Amino acid sequence: MSRRLLTNAGLATFADIDAPYGLVEHGALAFEKGAIAWTGAEADLPAEFADWPKEDLGGCLVTPGLIDCHTHVVFGGNRAREFEMRLQGATYEEVARAGGGIVSTVRSTRTAGEEALLEQALPRVDALIAEGITTLEIKSGYGLDIETELRMLRTARKIGGVRPVDIRTSFLGAHAVPPEYKGRADAYLDDICLPALEAAHEEGLVDAVDGFCEGIAFSPGQIARVFERAKELNLPVKLHAEQLSDLGGAELAASYDALSADHLEYLSGKGVEALARSGSVAVLLPGAFYTLRETQLPPVDLLRANSVPIALATDCNPGSSPLASLLLALNMGCTLFRMTPEEALAGVTREAAKALGLSDRGTLEAGRRADLSVWNVSHPAELSYRIGFNPLKERIFGGAQ
Ligand code: NIG
Ligand code: FE
Repeated sequence: MSRRLLTNAGLATFADIDAPYGLVEHGALAFEKGAIAWTGAEADLPAEFADWPKEDLGGCLVTPGLIDCHTHVVFGGNRAREFEMRLQGATYEEVARAGGGIVSTVRSTRTAGEEALLEQALPRVDALIAEGITTLEIKSGYGLDIETELRMLRTARKIGGVRPVDIRTSFLGAHAVPPEYKGRADAYLDDICLPALEAAHEEGLVDAVDGFCEGIAFSPGQIARVFERAKELNLPVKLHAEQLSDLGGAELAASYDALSADHLEYLSGKGVEALARSGSVAVLLPGAFYTLRETQLPPVDLLRANSVPIALATDCNPGSSPLASLLLALNMGCTLFRMTPEEALAGVTREAAKALGLSDRGTLEAGRRADLSVWNVSHPAELSYRIGFNPLKERIFGGAQ
């Protein structure tokens, strides 16, 4: 059925309407051939849509299909043992320096073939889809050799062929220095990371280039080398910045007009201003904050005061954020970071689309993709308020159920 009219619905449009959530009560939404044709109050529905195949939603809420704009769902193995170590007192950095952390997932990912990686990723992807996600960003970064980085990206793209979800891939070769290059980060960039980026780009596998700017990963100068290459290849950049310390990563990212800077617990006032100037999105990751029992809060008030767009994501990964629930990330964004439920929901729709450089989705407006999530709730704040409860009634992906 390529044409459909949804009636008797609340619409959290996130469009430029003077109402919280861009909310239209008693709304109707028409879509055709994968795109939204009309949204508004049912009383204003133009006659041309009135006889389209109709579904009465009984007062349910429609939001844009949710977008998880920062994940690492493709990886081998898990790090439950490291979780135990951290509970016994070891910090994330200590575990990483002792050869655990990202590098331990690198070992399990290198030994997994494409089929195994796909098989391990799909349950995580399915959990996200079951919560109304229609666009999913997936990073490489657990291969750290050319072959495995490419395999991760191919696996990520393959997910879009076996599940109804739009996949965007980010190359994260500058995620950690692999053991064979210990103490030789620049050589790793020269020998592996930059050639892998070029090969991945050549194969059409890269939508954006990411990095991890941190004491346990790469310096701003090293990240700049990766960003320079991204610029030559005409690829947008984003950055894991200011997660554990303030190295000025967000300012560096902003100077390359980054799509986003992510984590940001240690972001300075100068960093906030740089993001405001570049228009980069601040992607906050409460799952990592929670898992690492971080106490330094990202500067939400300052981001807000400077009108920096704020997105929220799961950061689903085996170490710092084994979280496969974007609804829980919404709740954590409100409870831990003091975001409003409206900011949180905008953060997984309109602002998450911006963080991926996508202008065809993230709001309910004519012309946008018909990616919709229908919820059995009467007010949008309910999506942030509940914990461990999924009120998804229906998900429409590209106009199809
Ligand atoms: O986004 N910060 C760096 N990278 C991931 C963690 C990856 C891991 O611990 O496996 C993150 O938190
Ligand atoms: Fe991450």
